[in-house]
Amino acid sequence: MTMFARKTIDDLQAEATSDHEMVGTEEQHTLKRTLSGFDLTLLGIGCIIGAGIFVLTGHAAAANAGPAVVISFILGAIVCAFAGLCYAEMASTVPVSGSAYTYAYATMGEFIAWLIGWDLILEYCLGATTVAIGWSGYVVSFLHGFGIDIPASLSKAPFSFDAVSRWGHTGALLNVPAMVIVAVITALLVVGIRESARVNSVIVVIKVLIVIAFIVAGIRFVDKAHWVTSGNPQGAFIPPSHGEQGVYGWSGVLRGAAVVFFAYIGFDSVSTVAQETVNPKRNMPIGLLGSLLICTVLYVLVSYVLTGIVPYDKLNVSDPIAVGVDAIGLPWLSPIIKLGAIFGLTSVILVLLLSQPRIFYTMSKDGLLPPFAAKIHKRFRTPYITTITTGAVVMVLAGLLPIGLVGELVSIGTLFAFAVVSVGVVVLRIKQPDLERPFRTPAVFIVGPLGALSSIFLMAGLPADTWIRLLVWMAIGVVIYFGYGIRHSKLNKRRGERG
Ligand code: ALA
Repeated sequence: MTMFARKTIDDLQAEATSDHEMVGTEEQHTLKRTLSGFDLTLLGIGCIIGAGIFVLTGHAAAANAGPAVVISFILGAIVCAFAGLCYAEMASTVPVSGSAYTYAYATMGEFIAWLIGWDLILEYCLGATTVAIGWSGYVVSFLHGFGIDIPASLSKAPFSFDAVSRWGHTGALLNVPAMVIVAVITALLVVGIRESARVNSVIVVIKVLIVIAFIVAGIRFVDKAHWVTSGNPQGAFIPPSHGEQGVYGWSGVLRGAAVVFFAYIGFDSVSTVAQETVNPKRNMPIGLLGSLLICTVLYVLVSYVLTGIVPYDKLNVSDPIAVGVDAIGLPWLSPIIKLGAIFGLTSVILVLLLSQPRIFYTMSKDGLLPPFAAKIHKRFRTPYITTITTGAVVMVLAGLLPIGLVGELVSIGTLFAFAVVSVGVVVLRIKQPDLERPFRTPAVFIVGPLGALSSIFLMAGLPADTWIRLLVWMAIGVVIYFGYGIRHSKLNKRRGERG
């Protein structure tokens, strides 16, 4: 038994084709290949535009970067672009479901792969939890606008968690709307990926239109006079530092980048559906990089407009975009924007809840999780056991936990995965230089290391508490691997048989 066993690319490519080509009765137990490059781009955008732009932009502008949150968004995009180029090469070379987990298996061995798979639970499960909580907030605010009030006891988490790491009680019972949306989406995902992708496409179009509407409506009103606040009497684009790390000045721009990084999370989830994609070698890079590019342009414009129409110190609210719309005297647009945000957040939850079960599926096929997790539904041909399990866990977490606690863990977990994939792509180039790579990361020996370093740099911007939680979570993963995975690993068994 070894924890350093690596899958070869041949192993992986054989897995991809055997799943695909099995015939006769076996065929109904495999995943369906139906997604195109366009579907993947929409899937990516579906997962990217969400709580990050609709909620966190305001926080980052108010607390960290001021109008220079625009630079924070550009920095976040650069980090993602490095990682995205690496993901695209990996996804085109190793077109198997499982994302960073699979790539690590091929490049750094089983143990690191397990760690990454375990880490990705933070990104996908907790990501879905975070956005479901944000969804609930927007729904409550939207309905309030129409005189319908959901009692706070049924729309807030019972637990709170403040900055000094103390749990509190809010007096609320459960965040019911957050639980309901998770349950509905889980049911949809069990029924089928094609249906899920269709619903997603409609939602994506709506939310992109809403974002564009905001940009078009607001851009005429942008006025640098709004950059002037009590802490920034000169109206500088980068407000002067307050002396405290992460509060305005360049350190604030960097902290802002770590905060708004959340807004980009999701483009990598495109790689988890490689086995359900037609011609993944071509379509994976299109989906990954196309969605990232479109979202970057939209984010930069939204944050420029928002901080140009409302002084940034007024943006620390749960619905900053709606505040922006009110400020330019278009109150009728406000409920439409909120509705767009609700749709937008819905599709983010959908893609995150779609990705997690597929990673569990792959890990289970590898023997690192129990076999029942790899079961495919006979009629729907979806990994229903893991879909339902994921949905149930996320539902409970979304009902109980406060948003701040989970959000930062999502960012740190994702950045960790980005760093590993960026290293992995370089390792594979060195170990197997002749491998066929339909998409090659340009200047990989620069882009790969920069991808890893820039991810670690952003991780360093997050608070120590978040680091400790990451380490505890990973320690639990190590225990599970040595208690179960290493003994049940199919790769280890195969290697053992071969001698
Ligand atoms: N990028 C996703 C969002 O902003 C996770 O909601």
